[in-house]
Amino acid sequence: MGHRPYAGAEGFNRIEEIACRLACQQFGADHANVQPHSVSQANQAVYQGLLLNGDKVLAMKFSDGGHLTHGLKINFSGRFFNFNFYGTGKDGRLDYKAIEKQAVEFKPKLIVCGASSYPRKIDFKKLKKIAAKVGAYLMADLSHPAGLVVANKFPQPFPSCDVVTLTLDKTMLGPHGGIILCKKELEQIIDKAVHPGTQSSVPLRRIFEMTQCLLDTSKPWFSKYIDRLMINMKVFEEVFNKLPGLLVTGGSDTHLMVLNTYSVLGLTGKYSEEILEKIGILTNRQVVPGDTLKPYVASGIRLGATWITARGYRPEEVNLIGKIILKNLTNPNDEKIQKESKAKLKNLLWVKRKNDVWKDENITI
Ligand SMILES: Cc1ncc(COP(=O)(O)O)c(C=O)c1O
Repeated sequence: MGHRPYAGAEGFNRIEEIACRLACQQFGADHANVQPHSVSQANQAVYQGLLLNGDKVLAMKFSDGGHLTHGLKINFSGRFFNFNFYGTGKDGRLDYKAIEKQAVEFKPKLIVCGASSYPRKIDFKKLKKIAAKVGAYLMADLSHPAGLVVANKFPQPFPSCDVVTLTLDKTMLGPHGGIILCKKELEQIIDKAVHPGTQSSVPLRRIFEMTQCLLDTSKPWFSKYIDRLMINMKVFEEVFNKLPGLLVTGGSDTHLMVLNTYSVLGLTGKYSEEILEKIGILTNRQVVPGDTLKPYVASGIRLGATWITARGYRPEEVNLIGKIILKNLTNPNDEKIQKESKAKLKNLLWVKRKNDVWKDENITI
């Protein structure tokens, strides 16, 4: 907190202190550092704090849901540290027995969990047991499910994890930036790894926005929002499961899901993304477990209900959006369907804009 090599930031120090306190309260951590510019940078600081160049790290495979900063060779993480990867089992879910076997053989100094596109919960307690067995630190990158953790719809990372990184701009509905949470004994290591280790100054305005976000997410409306998000995801799940095999792992218990469009519909992720963008729906291409296509083409798409829920969309609208997605993916060249879909979606935007009253404390589900 603070430690700025310049004057005039006294007020911001106090604001930053509130952000750190709120982050610790909401995630059950001993210590928070809200200064990293992004999660990539937060991850970099954690690696720099806990590891020496060349140290061994075990993380989730990119194609199975892991992130660039979890050891890809083209990223700083894979360049400076010795990463090995665990994947998901045949069912697309984490196979903890296999992870344990790998950890025992590889003997990493750090195990990284958390993902970019894993639609299921993570068992931090099981991973902690594995980490303890091999004497490794356990870090969770919770960029995606952070909001679900706050609302108790995802397992609590502490006390199992030693370090957690996250951002507020996904399921926390706040600004972009990185947060590192850790146990008391790592406080100084983490703070030093952020500054002066990986960055110089901190945009004070973003710290203010983070504080505002964390104040918001500590209020009762936020849990109601996450409840609604989970209900909306079940609606998507029901619609997409009309095409067996389309959903990786058969569904989702988080805010995101992965559609294997290539194996079920013969559409690459890139093409599926383009089809949907044409009618006004933004998704993103996504590699799927065992993918044979390059990441920029990919075999699937990733989508979620975070922002449509924040707009106030209820199951009726989500059901309609899901059906529109399915109809367009199964009729990729039908211009009439595209035109009709676009009109329906436009109508939906207009109707909901009038009811966009999200932070109303009286909102009921
Ligand atoms: C799991 C995970 N970690 C890290 C990042 C990187 O975050 P940033 O863009 O803030 O560097 C992302 C980005 O989406 C992510 O999904």
